[in-house]
Amino acid sequence: MTFKRARPVRHEPGDIPRHIAIIMDGNGRWAKKRGLPRTAGHAAGAETFRRIATYCKDIGVEYLTVYAFSTENWKRPADEVNLILDLLDKYLREAIEKMERDDVRLRIFGDTSALSDRMRALIGNTDEISRRTGGMQVNVCVNYGGRAEIMRAAALYAAERAEGGGEELTEERFSGYMFSSGMPDPDLLIRTGGEKRLSNFLLWQAAYSEMYFTDDLWPDFNERALDRAIADYAGRSRRYGGV
Ligand code: IPE
Ligand code: IPE
Ligand code: MG
Repeated sequence: MTFKRARPVRHEPGDIPRHIAIIMDGNGRWAKKRGLPRTAGHAAGAETFRRIATYCKDIGVEYLTVYAFSTENWKRPADEVNLILDLLDKYLREAIEKMERDDVRLRIFGDTSALSDRMRALIGNTDEISRRTGGMQVNVCVNYGGRAEIMRAAALYAAERAEGGGEELTEERFSGYMFSSGMPDPDLLIRTGGEKRLSNFLLWQAAYSEMYFTDDLWPDFNERALDRAIADYAGRSRRYGGV
């Protein structure tokens, strides 16, 4: 499906967050409202993700991190899980074709060992292409959990220490063991769908993110809704514990 590219709104240069993180929630309810199966909501949500990623690139966002499938989402019926993974597979395939043209880097955050060989091969491919491209970085969290990520970081550090390496820990160095190594923390964290919780998303990185909650269900979220979130963010005073 193609969509008409929304004309970017002129935000003040300093108002654009460098890094936006999004909990894309509400696909199931969006479908239910229309008498459709939940899976139709995920298909619509995948389109919204494409639009929003395109728009973020147009307005100069440097990093976009989205929550696509959590470590807890395996609890859902197998049909729904399979459809979500199929949509991701399709997206990765398309993204690989367009990454260089669009100048976008793509990373998957999460435990990929639970994914199919085919998907892991695709992910390897995106990593390879990302090394050559330089534009906006899109991180898609798949089989991702914030606690699992922190535990993984601790294990990586411990393994390095056991081999005689690994310097004395600082918060900055520990960040280097996260999937987001080398990236700035999210400035703005958006959750659609009305819930006001993190649901195990970016527990380490969101320490000082500005939170924005909207009742919009993810498939209804659009460029204008993102503009509103950015305008709200731009009006905040970020003190990081200072005065
Ligand atoms: C978010 O939408 C997508 C995933 C968690 C994969 P939901 O599927 O959670 O939609 P609701 O919250 O049930 O409406
Ligand atoms: C969070 O949404 C996970 C994703 C958006 C991928 P959920 O719908 O799984 O979260 P809960 O169950 O409402 O906390
Ligand atoms: Mg949900």
